[in-house]
Amino acid sequence: MAKVSASILSADFTRLRDEIEDVESAGVDFIHLDVMDGIFVPNLTFGPFIAKAVRSLTKLPLDAHLMIINPIKYVEEFRRAGCEYIVFHPEAKSPVSDTIERIKDVGAKPGLAINPETPLDMILPFLKDLKWVLVMSVNPGFAGQSFMSVSIPKLKRLMELKEKEGFDYIIAVDGGINSKTAPIVRDAGAEVLVSASFIFGAEDRKRAVELLKGESNTPSVSPLKG
Ligand code: DX5
Ligand code: ZN
Repeated sequence: MAKVSASILSADFTRLRDEIEDVESAGVDFIHLDVMDGIFVPNLTFGPFIAKAVRSLTKLPLDAHLMIINPIKYVEEFRRAGCEYIVFHPEAKSPVSDTIERIKDVGAKPGLAINPETPLDMILPFLKDLKWVLVMSVNPGFAGQSFMSVSIPKLKRLMELKEKEGFDYIIAVDGGINSKTAPIVRDAGAEVLVSASFIFGAEDRKRAVELLKGESNTPSVSPLKG
């Protein structure tokens, strides 16, 4: 069965404690932090200060998705804020090997995220060192975008490589995940499904999480509002 990481990007930040407690009791396995700098992506969100606040609100592991131009500079701060997984983009400006080493040095688990137009080949040399590979199924920047199927062959190949080579990474997918796309990405090999709008926009979040994990027998019923 797949696991779920809830991205707080679609949470109500005026009630962050309630929102995190609510998705935790709905059964999510991780809290996903979408960190954006307004340069690597057009949107601007939050940094280690909020990560630290989230850390104090839950015992769930935090996966920080750094959509920032110079991730190596902030690795230590995100670790100090309590992030277990630190995931960055090879399309950013930090040297990939050095950044992975820095993440390991500070005691976190390294991950790489790849954009829809980035070929998987770009990260092949680093797979042996990774604990998390995040396949983007939207162009990063905003919640609520439509799923891009270019992610599917990447998930399949990551699963094959993991089995064949004995790699240790978690295969995660991020963007446009809902009750329709979840079975597709699970079949392709995704082990963690990241979701913002489908979870936080659901009236029944427990049901939404079940649908993402594939626990439900009646996937046609949508838990979305309206
Ligand atoms: C996109 C972020 C995603 C986003 C997902 O830049 O990396 O984590 O929050 O949002 P949904 O699930 O609404 O597509
Ligand atoms: Zn993300």
